[in-house]
Amino acid sequence: MTDTQRNALIVGASRGLGLGLVETFAGRGWRVSATQRSASPGLARLASGTVRVETVDIDDDAAVAALHERLAGERYDLVFVVAGVATQAHAPLHAVPREVAAQVYLTNAVSPIRFAETFADRVAPGGLIAFMSSALGSVALNESGGFETYRASKAALNTYARSFAIRHRAAGFGVLLLHPGWVRTDMGGAEADLDVATSAAGMADVIEEQLGRAGIAYRDYRGETLAW
Ligand SMILES: NC(=O)c1ccc[n+]([C@@H]2O[C@H](COP(=O)([O-])OP(=O)(O)OC[C@H]3O[C@@H](n4cnc5c(N)ncnc54)[C@H](OP(=O)(O)O)[C@@H]3O)[C@@H](O)[C@H]2O)c1
Repeated sequence: MTDTQRNALIVGASRGLGLGLVETFAGRGWRVSATQRSASPGLARLASGTVRVETVDIDDDAAVAALHERLAGERYDLVFVVAGVATQAHAPLHAVPREVAAQVYLTNAVSPIRFAETFADRVAPGGLIAFMSSALGSVALNESGGFETYRASKAALNTYARSFAIRHRAAGFGVLLLHPGWVRTDMGGAEADLDVATSAAGMADVIEEQLGRAGIAYRDYRGETLAW
């Protein structure tokens, strides 16, 4: 470790985009703490002197508090909450059981913000708290419908993130909502446009460009700003 080495906490990194982001940032010389919910073979392969693997479920406040304790002393240039679910995303709202719709909302909107609130004191000056949103979270860009509970959860995440950024305006870190593109993961499916490495590299470029900027931005993996 050197004094100038950047440090990231990537939450929800067992597979898919989170795992790809760990690989990308480690490859760029960052130190990374990466979280899984249960043992991840992909993360185990990346574990090293610069990649530290931790375990947390973001829906479990006690587990998040325990992680905060275990990572005492760390200062992060980036805290990126990537974790998300798309349970029964293809069904319209009225066809989704209430408890399923509620869980999608909790995991995608409430838990990321609560996680960020807990870890806000660990973000270095000029650092960034990033949330994995989606273009589907844009109210303005919803011209095709569908993905109702998922869209609403990401729109709620965007709304909460704006209030979070305002609440922490004086803290000296920026807030970034990212759309990764449509990516071939378990969630994105085999037909998606992009591979994980392309999306992760694009998001890492946007993050590196956004470091040191205050306020909130909503951008895609190519750096384009999205309409709210
Ligand atoms: N793929 C796309 O095209 C796309 C497009 C737009 C936005 N996104 C967003 O990008 C993020 C990552 O998606 P992905 O495509 O990589 O999906 P994925 O392959 O299904 O991976 C989801 C990740 O989230 C973790 N996770 C889910 N619930 C969690 C919880 N309660 N606590 C901790 N971790 C949890 C999963 O852990 P486990 O392995 O333990 O389940 C897994 O690591 C999500 O927020 C998703 O909404 C994806």
